[in-house]
Amino acid sequence: MERGAIGTHLKNQPDEWKIEQGMHAARLPILDQTGPDPEGRAIPPEEYVPFKDEAAIRSVGDPNKLFTEEREGWEGYIEWEEYTDKKAKAHKILTSQNFPPPPEFQLGPIPGTNPVLEGVRWKMWHRAIGGALNTIADISWDTVMKEKHPEMLHLLQFPYNGEPPKRLVTAKPVTPNPLHFVRNHGGIPNIDRNKYRLDMDGLVARPQSFTLDDLMDESKFPRMEKLVTIQCSGTRRVEQIALYAGEGDEMINAPWAEGAIGTARWVGVSLKKVIKACGGLVGEGKHLELYGADTYFKKNNVMNYVVSVPWSKVKANEVMLAWEMNGEPLPKIHGYPLRVVVFGYIGARSVKWLYRIKAIEDPSMAPVQSQEYLYFNTQIGKHNQRMTDGIQIQEMPVSSAIMSPWSKQVVIHNGKIHCKGWAYSGGGRWPERVELSADGGFSWYTVPVENMSEKHRYAWRTWEMDLPCDVEGWIEIVCRCWDNSLNTQPLQVRAAWNWGLHVTSSAHRISIYSVNKTHEITRKRLAEFDERGVPFGPLTVPTEWQVQSWDDYRGYFEKNGPRDAETEYNSRDMED
Ligand code: MTE
Repeated sequence: MERGAIGTHLKNQPDEWKIEQGMHAARLPILDQTGPDPEGRAIPPEEYVPFKDEAAIRSVGDPNKLFTEEREGWEGYIEWEEYTDKKAKAHKILTSQNFPPPPEFQLGPIPGTNPVLEGVRWKMWHRAIGGALNTIADISWDTVMKEKHPEMLHLLQFPYNGEPPKRLVTAKPVTPNPLHFVRNHGGIPNIDRNKYRLDMDGLVARPQSFTLDDLMDESKFPRMEKLVTIQCSGTRRVEQIALYAGEGDEMINAPWAEGAIGTARWVGVSLKKVIKACGGLVGEGKHLELYGADTYFKKNNVMNYVVSVPWSKVKANEVMLAWEMNGEPLPKIHGYPLRVVVFGYIGARSVKWLYRIKAIEDPSMAPVQSQEYLYFNTQIGKHNQRMTDGIQIQEMPVSSAIMSPWSKQVVIHNGKIHCKGWAYSGGGRWPERVELSADGGFSWYTVPVENMSEKHRYAWRTWEMDLPCDVEGWIEIVCRCWDNSLNTQPLQVRAAWNWGLHVTSSAHRISIYSVNKTHEITRKRLAEFDERGVPFGPLTVPTEWQVQSWDDYRGYFEKNGPRDAETEYNSRDMED
């Protein structure tokens, strides 16, 4: 493709106006102004040209023999971490071909479909490896259909990522299981609880394995029950995307809204007790590496889902191995038969389909721990990013969301707008005060304490409030929370925007169109719409009839002087 001034490769583009206006910015060439040409050099976006080296792929061997299930009764579980040569073979298959680029949903419109994104590349990667991964995408989707609410908002079909519609969870202090959000990095394993075992090894005195019955035996392990909120670090990411584009992988940076957070009553045992049963940590053991049975793909490498938590967190009894969620066995999609629940931490550490815990010296070097869930400074991005520049996201900061009304909604009210939402703080802190503003964050009203759900150390509080609002037209409602350590939220998304689009903890802002019926003119106008049987919405549709009589119009200017200050001079000029 020719490289020249900015417009050269855009000739005859029907959507050029949109490209010029930044509405299709993915198609906008990059402008390199560092050369001699003062106008710069336009570098068009790369085009995808498929390639596949069949011979190289065949030389790796038969996938049905290489990539098989590790244990009887554990469908969809391939062990990768123990076998470097198996990983190398998978890598060769993936690098002997290429795959389409990720779909553009930031510098272009987000599809208006459900599932919003399909995960085409992720499906292709799994099928390219074959073996036990060949059909996992279909099996996982069947599980979604069986276990989740039929009205879930499927952000990504595979690996499955979905959040509940706001209307079904607003003001529910406990999230029903079928509506709890799901965040998967791979397929959903199907594990027979009678064949289940958890291996505990590494820097512990007596490495050993436990069946689920061992862990459930109350004579060995005291049972633990806790109301805990799990929050994905991607919650409310759409607000960052709406402002500026960041890293655009459809899976790791799915466009989550206010629903990537949920609260459940979990039952299980404290990991501390299990480590004690293994004789405790030895040597330099200070972190616990947690292994999930699903397969994850990153940069042409395959792996199990592995992260770690520090011993200090485990020691404080804040890490639970859970088998029950809201009085039911864990749903398959939430980690059946056993998952980790780390209180007050980012959801990523709450490993599902847990099969191994390894005591280690330092935080895990596994990619999910060392390369992802990093929080960068606003100026760090594709051009200069290093992993060491990011803060590891562990304890979640204080945050909140307005769940009702919705952004851009027209609200007809009697001087008070009824609002509902949630507030949460990580690290064992809890929401103490929730405040709402109807003027963009200048003045604040406190949500009355009786309108907030109960206080818990590791759970959110849902709230509702009649927010006083006299003004009409577009207004901005803002919500912010103060936790018991007096932490509060930055006021603008920009203040916390980051390349990975993580932790949108800024005060939640929604624009709504206020129609205040306590104002006489408004009341009368709405009555007119009613009498004529014309709906008030959509807001932008012009009113078809004359909104003021000519008598009224003339009467006004007779009383208040003419509309045009020059009228008088003009007539005098004529007389001269
Ligand atoms: N565990 C495994 N094995 N695989 C995963 O993809 N996702 C993590 C965590 N545990 C994940 C996992 C992330 S990022 C989050 S936010 C939570 O699970 C979500 O838990 P949920 O799907 O039960 O809501």
